[in-house]
Amino acid sequence: MENFEHCIPTKIIFGRGTENQVGAEVAKHAKKVLLHFGGGSVRASGLLDRVTASLKAAGIAYVELGGVKPNPRLSLVHEGVKLCKQHGVELVLAVGGGSVIDSAKAIAMGARIDHDVWDFYLGNGAPTAALPVATILTIPAAGSESSTGTVITKEEGDLKRAVNSDLIYPVFSILNPELAFTLPRFQVACGAMDIMAHLMERYFTNVTRVGFTDRLLEATMKTIIAEAPKVIANSRDYDAWAEVMWAGCIAHNNLLNTGRIGDWASHAIEHEISGIYDVAHGAGLAVVFPAWMRYTLKHDVQRFVQWAVRVWDVELDVFDPEATARKGIERMEAFYKSLGLAVTLSGLGVASDRIDEMAEKCTEGNTQPVGNFVKLGQKDVAAILKLAA
Ligand code: NZQ
Ligand code: ZN
Repeated sequence: MENFEHCIPTKIIFGRGTENQVGAEVAKHAKKVLLHFGGGSVRASGLLDRVTASLKAAGIAYVELGGVKPNPRLSLVHEGVKLCKQHGVELVLAVGGGSVIDSAKAIAMGARIDHDVWDFYLGNGAPTAALPVATILTIPAAGSESSTGTVITKEEGDLKRAVNSDLIYPVFSILNPELAFTLPRFQVACGAMDIMAHLMERYFTNVTRVGFTDRLLEATMKTIIAEAPKVIANSRDYDAWAEVMWAGCIAHNNLLNTGRIGDWASHAIEHEISGIYDVAHGAGLAVVFPAWMRYTLKHDVQRFVQWAVRVWDVELDVFDPEATARKGIERMEAFYKSLGLAVTLSGLGVASDRIDEMAEKCTEGNTQPVGNFVKLGQKDVAAILKLAA
């Protein structure tokens, strides 16, 4: 096991009706907030009205900025930064999914600097200050509600890039599973896929003797496999949603990464797909993961066998471990399909004509290999995308 430090400062407020606590909770941190949200679901569901009522009751002033799109754009981040500076905003409150939260985190960093926040996404410098961010989560998926990450797309150049910083851990996140009842089936499936991906990125590691976190990861994967079909069958199944929402939060807040080194190549490859084709992140991952697995399988067949047996209940073939591992990948694909997701680029409606461009961008012209389990250069990424085609 590797050395690690573990501190997740995000307070989680979980359960029915908890969004009505937002005003009182914000009041512990700020008097004026930027209220940030997406394309309309929070208005249609009445959530935004409940949030503004709670803010008003607590005497919190707010400036609204809606319109965050999935794969959130830099131009709206710039607008948010301007509003924060203009109005003396003290906290950015995100009401929505990963896209809204990531946009809020970018705004929070941008509000404390005089240069373009995109510099951080290009790896030029790191943030040293940020406004506090708080969230009300409406979709279990990205895990941004208690992660250090933010992923933004710059429209010119179709460039989707991430920043990780402890400064943007939300100060609190409100998780009410009831808020997910209105999710379209496709978004439910994409969310479940993203949660599975966050677990698998951590599971496939070269670090040995990490049996405790192996077991935690396996239990969390099994939870998603058992509960996601239930919320698809019945969108108002509170208890199933509660399991998915809590598992999704834990999946990405780094508890399950303690003492391990995760891989993250599949995420890097997927960000090139959603950066260019604007597909849902989870839908892109459903295509990348099976191909990445088939490409890297031989690196550590035993780890794939353990995963296939423990997570997918594949019977161990002692004479042919590789066949056992491949059955695990097939069961995973069958699970994604049962959720309604495509497992090939063509199924996703993505052409194969920009594979070389994606591989080049992903590895910065073959100068920055991606992945830790197996380090992948430009040719490897192109080969994986071709396998996925
Ligand atoms: O915009 P609205 O109208 O709200 O609609 C959204 C959006 O169209 C809709 N939606 C959300 N909650 C809803 C709802 N519709 C009805 N009822 C509800 N309760 O769902 C659509 C997708 O929302 P989005 O926020 O994009 O989804 P998700 O949470 O999957 O976020 C995806 C983004 O997160 C990034 C991804 O790359 C992608 O850009 N990620 C962020 C990470 C992080 N910060 O740590 C890690 C992840 O690996 C991921 O990369
Ligand atoms: Zn993800």
